[in-house]
Amino acid sequence: MSEAKRKQVLSAIQPTGDMHFGNYFGAVKNWVALQEKYDCIYGVVDYHAMTMPFNPKKLRAHTWELVFNLLAVGVKAESLFIQSLVPEHTELCWIFNCFTSYGQLTRMTQFKDKSRQSEEAGGGFISAGLFDYPVLQAADILIYRADYVPVGKDQEQHLELTRDIAQRFNQQMGKEYFVLPEPLFTDTPKIASPADPTRKMSKSAGDKHYISLFEDEARIRKKIRSAVTDTGATPEGQMSPGVKNLFELLKASEDMDAYESLMKDYQAGTLKYVNLKDAVADALVRLSDHFKERKAALMAEKKEVKRQIKESSARIRTIAQQTVRDVKELCGLQNVKG
Ligand code: TRP
Repeated sequence: MSEAKRKQVLSAIQPTGDMHFGNYFGAVKNWVALQEKYDCIYGVVDYHAMTMPFNPKKLRAHTWELVFNLLAVGVKAESLFIQSLVPEHTELCWIFNCFTSYGQLTRMTQFKDKSRQSEEAGGGFISAGLFDYPVLQAADILIYRADYVPVGKDQEQHLELTRDIAQRFNQQMGKEYFVLPEPLFTDTPKIASPADPTRKMSKSAGDKHYISLFEDEARIRKKIRSAVTDTGATPEGQMSPGVKNLFELLKASEDMDAYESLMKDYQAGTLKYVNLKDAVADALVRLSDHFKERKAALMAEKKEVKRQIKESSARIRTIAQQTVRDVKELCGLQNVKG
């Protein structure tokens, strides 16, 4: 008997170099877990990375770097594709542009934030690609008829736009062609910067604000040892953001014995921060060692791994091609065959 068809999950990440514990605990670890229950497709979306000022050499290097990092932490090669190997995304994006309201795009908050950053980095230049980015994202999702899209709350507006595009397309073409995708807001830990626990862990804020998954042991220990614990402004009886972040890291690393025993100390008022920090550093180093080992094994077979990813991208592309053929047919455009 054939198994019931599993739901389709789609998510994507931009190739912006290093992967840190904030990305891992907040998103990618969940991607790995979802592979057990769903059919998953995960994209390294290099076309998206062109919307901000970029450098071609770095774009290419970061794309492969991210592929190896994702594989090292447990994303399956069969699930993974590189967006520019599936150019149908951009073709569908164009078609969707004609089903997207200009007014709605002007209200995207990520565009407002990023256009400010882009203006600073690019000397006043804001690309039309940055403005159109959410439509490309809608194409990324709908091209695979995804049921679920695991994303952070910051992407809620883009998901809403995706559903609006799907609905408008279905309505105007007179066919329930596209599935309306649902966001999957899993309760993943939001990891803060060790140097400033009031902001999230992020690479753009500078070296001391993030810990790479593949960082040297000594540097991981140093960053945790110098993590801010008391910010001064915490009301009586509440855990300070820095201490909370360290506990969050320990829990996310699944060292529950250390977590529970240190939490008891905290509640009894006998916690020594140095003990908490040592436990967190040990847990992160353990994870990092494991990931480094896996990455080294993948790097030793670099050519073969690249071949696998090109192959899985080609296989995933056949799904995208079918969708674009259907869409062109529905829109009265020409297909070479048929
Ligand atoms: N916009 C997402 C982000 O900034 C990345 C992304 C691009 C994405 N295409 C996607 C996420 C499709 C989910 C589905 O994080």
